[in-house]
Amino acid sequence: MSEHADPATITVYPDGPLLVRGCFELRSADGRVIQTDRSVVALCRCGRSRLKPLCDGSHKLARFSDSASAEEVSHVLEFARPGTRRNDLDRDDINSD
Ligand code: FES
Repeated sequence: MSEHADPATITVYPDGPLLVRGCFELRSADGRVIQTDRSVVALCRCGRSRLKPLCDGSHKLARFSDSASAEEVSHVLEFARPGTRRNDLDRDDINSD
């Protein structure tokens, strides 16, 4: 990673992957760096990819649907604990502020 490169941004793609852009390191579960010369990678968030952690487009065949609006993600970050399922969160709280 370059010291002066743009910091990484992660964009939740509606009904699709997480797009990682900028200066990042992709690491395996055991902590080893996975070499990539790409400035953008798509990480699977539907769980259907055969190339995990990378997106292989399977979300389209699976008709994965999740808008992941900023309000929903903020709500999850505020209220979710490890092991919380999305349906356990009270979605009415999203717009209660
Ligand atoms: S998000 Fe694309 S295969 Fe899972």
